Amino acid sequence: MKYFIANWKARITADQALNWSKEFSDKIGADTVLQTELNNDKIRIIICAPYPFLFLLKNRFNNRKNIFLGSQDISPFDEGAYTGEVTAKMLQSTIHYSIIGHSERRHFFHEIEETIGRKIDQACSHDIEPILCIRGLKDKIHPAVKIIAYEPVDAVGTGNNENLQQVIEMKKKLKLAANTVFIYGGSVDPADIKSYTATGEINGFLIGNASLDPVEFYQIIVNSRS
Ligand code: PGA
Repeated sequence: MKYFIANWKARITADQALNWSKEFSDKIGADTVLQTELNNDKIRIIICAPYPFLFLLKNRFNNRKNIFLGSQDISPFDEGAYTGEVTAKMLQSTIHYSIIGHSERRHFFHEIEETIGRKIDQACSHDIEPILCIRGLKDKIHPAVKIIAYEPVDAVGTGNNENLQQVIEMKKKLKLAANTVFIYGGSVDPADIKSYTATGEINGFLIGNASLDPVEFYQIIVNSRS
């Protein structure tokens, strides 16, 4: 199973999100190979949209196997007087995944390990699978996490993606449990995706910029084929 995770960040309007989902759905509808890959658990697509759009997108991909929605963050609180928070409880019937600990949240929102740990606990206790982003060896890996996205800060949004060798080296150093899903993120695009899929070491990709255009995102999936 290969994961392709779109992270739209705060870069898209509601209209654009709806157009994206229509165009992407059409692409899948016209690609019988991809449909087979999805139906046979070869590929899983996770669309991590801004919170308000998750509900708009819900029906579009409802009946498609291996296409799921995810959030880009989640509250560390269960419920209560926390103005502005979006909790796992609110989202649990809509999403299957949640990105947690993204480097942009650690940086711009000063998220610390303790908060990230609580977010992971919240996700897990509401049947949401956390996708934990780590920047390298210093970031903590919570024992409940099954999906780790290695996203070196220098590679995120810069066009300077790490090469396969560097990514594999980091994976070795991380000494992950054998069943951990290991994702790479950082400037992945349709032109370089193939260089990562030569070995089975990387289980998927977290894609920011190149996921904003549905055709480009689709092309990454297609180009990853061996
Ligand atoms: P990028 O973003 O693909 O634009 O580098 C990846 C991410 O931040 O998850």
